[in-house]
Amino acid sequence: MTNQALEIKRLHQYFNRGTSNERHILRGLDLTLDSGEFVAVIGGNGAGKSTLMNSIAGNLPVDEGQILINQEDVTYESVAQRARLIGRVFQDPQMGTAPLLTVEENLSLAMLRGQRRKILTPGVKRRQRAFLQEKLALLNLGLEDRLGAEIGLLSGGQRQAITLLMATLQNPAILLLDEHTAALDPETSQIVMNLTAKLVAEQHLTTLMITHNMAAALQFGNRLIMLDHGKIAVDIRGAEKEKLTVPDLLALFKQRSGQELTDDAMLLS
Ligand SMILES: Nc1ncnc2c1ncn2[C@@H]1O[C@H](COP(=O)(O)OP(=O)(O)OP(=O)(O)O)[C@@H](O)[C@H]1O
Ligand SMILES: [Mg+2]
Repeated sequence: MTNQALEIKRLHQYFNRGTSNERHILRGLDLTLDSGEFVAVIGGNGAGKSTLMNSIAGNLPVDEGQILINQEDVTYESVAQRARLIGRVFQDPQMGTAPLLTVEENLSLAMLRGQRRKILTPGVKRRQRAFLQEKLALLNLGLEDRLGAEIGLLSGGQRQAITLLMATLQNPAILLLDEHTAALDPETSQIVMNLTAKLVAEQHLTTLMITHNMAAALQFGNRLIMLDHGKIAVDIRGAEKEKLTVPDLLALFKQRSGQELTDDAMLLS
């Protein structure tokens, strides 16, 4: 039996339900991720991609349906209760880290997540520092010498790399990435994407990664889903995904959604 890291059953999400402004955003969405799957999520603006992540993380209460993480029903758990199971990185490099705290302080907070003992003895602190330095060195961004630097002084790419490290330190059951490289320049974006792929592979992390970059959606991950009007319109994996090209993907998008992909950023990035 395969181990299911995430199971979403008939998920419905509305905004302004019961009012004249009612918007039915997710429309009976079903999605199951096996442990270790790395899934690129694409879809037009407003398709419901971020709503899906907010539902999984608990930021949005579920209107209808069920969400299981590691076979545990978390549908009615709060964000804080689910935090031990979830690592998350947003588009904005400002979101994931505390700017006035140092690199070490930020990483220590991530280490403490879900642990009861919050006070570290000097010995534990020393060992933790060595561990964090080792982790930072693997990023290849020279950050292992910057443990004492305030996070706010680092570049957006360095901050996203640290946020990614913080999100993955505790081996989350699910890693949620919402356009986490979109605010970075192309070169830095590539570095953070490669780092993502490395961490995901090393830790066999089950990952959902939203991207507007079609080339990245094809290059990274072993499965690709396309959301359209709150449902999964395309679900491709393995060898079938590997042979897909950007023009194939655009054609599929048009065929399944009835829309041209007009977002220039999507084509150019
Ligand atoms: N709090 C809210 N109240 C009302 N409508 C909302 C709210 N949040 C999101 N929406 C609407 O729900 C729809 C889906 O939004 P969502 O953020 O999930 O889209 P998305 O697929 O992530 O799009 P994008 O690619 O632009 O990030 C959009 O039409 C959005 O305007
Ligand atoms: Mg979004």
